[in-house]
Amino acid sequence: MNHPLSTAYTRLLGIDYPIVQEGMGPFSTARLAAAVSQAGGLGTVSVPGTTGDLAAAARELRGDIERCAELTDRPFAVNIPVGHSSSGGVAAFAKVYIDEVLDARRGDAALARQLRVLTTSAGFPDGISALAHDEGMLHQHKVGATRHALKAVRAGADAIIASGLEMGGHAPASGMHTFVLVPNVADAISVPVVLSGGVRDGRGLAAALCLGADAVALGTRFAASTDNPDWHPNYCKAILGAGEGDDGLLDGVFGPCRVLRNDAAAAVTTATSRGSATSSHEKITLMRKAQIDGDVDGGLVLLGQVASGISDLISVGEFIPAMAREAARLLGRAGVTS
Ligand SMILES: Cc1cc2nc3c(=O)[nH]c(=O)nc-3n(C[C@H](O)[C@H](O)[C@H](O)COP(=O)(O)O)c2cc1C
Repeated sequence: MNHPLSTAYTRLLGIDYPIVQEGMGPFSTARLAAAVSQAGGLGTVSVPGTTGDLAAAARELRGDIERCAELTDRPFAVNIPVGHSSSGGVAAFAKVYIDEVLDARRGDAALARQLRVLTTSAGFPDGISALAHDEGMLHQHKVGATRHALKAVRAGADAIIASGLEMGGHAPASGMHTFVLVPNVADAISVPVVLSGGVRDGRGLAAALCLGADAVALGTRFAASTDNPDWHPNYCKAILGAGEGDDGLLDGVFGPCRVLRNDAAAAVTTATSRGSATSSHEKITLMRKAQIDGDVDGGLVLLGQVASGISDLISVGEFIPAMAREAARLLGRAGVTS
């Protein structure tokens, strides 16, 4: 289909709209990802966090991949924050997740055709693009600085997600904002660029395309959706209730990580300033407290600054085509039909 918002990115991936739902681990996004992909965007399955049993977490990830594939027949992605080992390769924990993903694809040709994108973040280990390509997957990598985009493209990445400091969750240490970062990255590389951070509607998509991006990726906006039943309703309500200035950045093992300013965030900040860092296991536990138990004061609520402009729960199937229509109208392109 010659779509009014067809870009190098939509053509590369075989999707209708240049709209991505990004990974939001350690929370399950299997059903949300399926809804986004089914609506013509690209959904992303996220990695579960683990406080110890990595094999169980890998099985959980596989379950989510299989669940997503059952709910849609469209392409989708999996996000793995890869880190890297001291020798430069994939970190041990990430290798367990990657092996599980590859095993799931090797055992099921239909699933392999759908799960065609590996999205990496939080590190760029040697050989990761080649590994994805050898398995017949596209590889996109999330960066917060132009030099990291250049490095990833030189190593073979097929697309770059350029994410700015306003984003929810773990944000780039470089501190760059999308409005500056995305044109810098788009000028520097020749593969498709996906703008991530701060987008909530067709205005953001139109602006992103004007800045040189080929697509947008959203986290916070998609989390507050009726198609995200796996998250505790209090978490979604916290997103809807957040106003300007209600978010802040955590440091330490989190650093920097954008969260709602609440009791848990204050306690983590105090502990960090006293030199008693929160461990990564404690971090996962605090995140689960909010997302699974619904304790949005005592648990950590990751969200982006864009929450300040979000006041309703969306239905993904209606939202995605409407967002594309709004962007096409703003860009003066022919109407989007579906
Ligand atoms: C609750 C939550 C969890 C996240 N977890 C991850 C993750 O596991 N891996 C990752 O690469 N990014 C993660 N992110 C960042 C998102 O993938 C995305 O970059 C970000 O939400 C985009 O900015 P926005 O929130 O303004 O849309 C998370 C964001 C949120 C809000």
